Amino acid sequence: AHVKVLRSLGPEGRTLPLQGHVGFDSLPDQLVNKCVNLGFDMNILCVGETGIGKSTLMDCLFKANFDDTVHSHKSPGVEISEHIYNLKEGNVKLRLAIVDSVGYGDQINKENSFKPLVDFIDEQFENYLQEELKIKRDLVTFHDSRVHVCLYFLVPTGHSIRSLDLVTMKALDKKCNIIPIIAKSDTVSKSELDTFKANIMEELRDNDVEIYTFPTDDETVAEVNKDMNEMMPFAVVGSREDVKVGETTVRGREYPWGVVEIENEQHCDFVKLREMLIRTNMEDLREVTHRKHYELYRRGKLKQMGITDDGAHPVSLQETYEQKRAEHLEELQRIENEMRQNFVNKVREKDLELKRNEKELAAKYEGLRKENNEEKKRLDEERKKLDDDLAALKKKREDLERANAEHANGQNTK
Ligand code: GTP
Repeated sequence: AHVKVLRSLGPEGRTLPLQGHVGFDSLPDQLVNKCVNLGFDMNILCVGETGIGKSTLMDCLFKANFDDTVHSHKSPGVEISEHIYNLKEGNVKLRLAIVDSVGYGDQINKENSFKPLVDFIDEQFENYLQEELKIKRDLVTFHDSRVHVCLYFLVPTGHSIRSLDLVTMKALDKKCNIIPIIAKSDTVSKSELDTFKANIMEELRDNDVEIYTFPTDDETVAEVNKDMNEMMPFAVVGSREDVKVGETTVRGREYPWGVVEIENEQHCDFVKLREMLIRTNMEDLREVTHRKHYELYRRGKLKQMGITDDGAHPVSLQETYEQKRAEHLEELQRIENEMRQNFVNKVREKDLELKRNEKELAAKYEGLRKENNEEKKRLDEERKKLDDDLAALKKKREDLERANAEHANGQNTK
């Protein structure tokens, strides 16, 4: 295309410096204002067995009193319960969804414990994809329900990771950002905790379980994130009680031998977790979810629909649609033929059966007829015999009567 040159500087041209402030440095502010007005979505999936302290930790993280239903250990399967809270700090609105895996790890057969979790995550991806595929899509105000982070609560055994945890994390690691944490870490001693942490990381590596690592490409947070990556998994303590320590009141757990302060970095890694999760890397978690995990889901889904754009045969949507349609029609035709064949076979079978029955009936009828004839013959003979007997008796009676009459006559003539 020809670009119309309105003014050319030329070799002797004069370059004019900008005479004043243009103002595009306010672009970041515009962006911030827009985002702040819309608010943010953050969805946290808490996975861990019943009573491991999931709700307590969530309360501590957001300094709130969220849902506090105590769940039983007897649930027949794993259920997903989701609670949404609209939080506000300063003028920033956060729509927080806490998703709890109720009954996780309580069943005797734990084989499918992770299935409801995977299904839930996929369902949220699907909702987003459906919105994206709409003609009138509205992704700006769409409430993003995709799981941005999965806090995986490890049982503080002090030894190593359990196989159920490994299997579940492996099933989830391509679908969401997993941050493993050691729950109730006040029950493990300091020296045990270090070996426990090392064992956990080693086992995760050995089993190729990919966990979320804090990003180190942004230099403002690179250093702190690098340090924190080395401290994973965070050992946390949760509490809903405020305890008096000296003159101050702190969130903590009081024991006969002392107080565990949850916000004291000497006592546990709670503050580190809060810093990393909420203050430093919340946006990265949201971004990685969209860029990596959702993208993988979307790619798989579109491939399933037959849409590809890689390799030597770029296929347009129209072609794909037509091909799919042809395949579908072929399949329908095949099903129809199969059904027709089935029907013909059935009819034939029924026909044969009917003929067989007819034959059987005819044979039965013939037998009955024969029997009947024989019976009739026998009865006829019997009747003839009876008739003969009757005639003989009649004759005998007549003879007798005649003899009697003759006898009477003889008497009278005397
Ligand atoms: P469900 O919602 O019923 O599945 O349980 P949950 O995992 O949400 O556990 P919850 O937060 O209700 O805590 C269960 C119990 O563990 C409560 O009595 C808590 O006080 C206790 N608890 C929570 N966090 C800790 C902790 O860090 N250390 C210790 N020792 N106990 C804790």
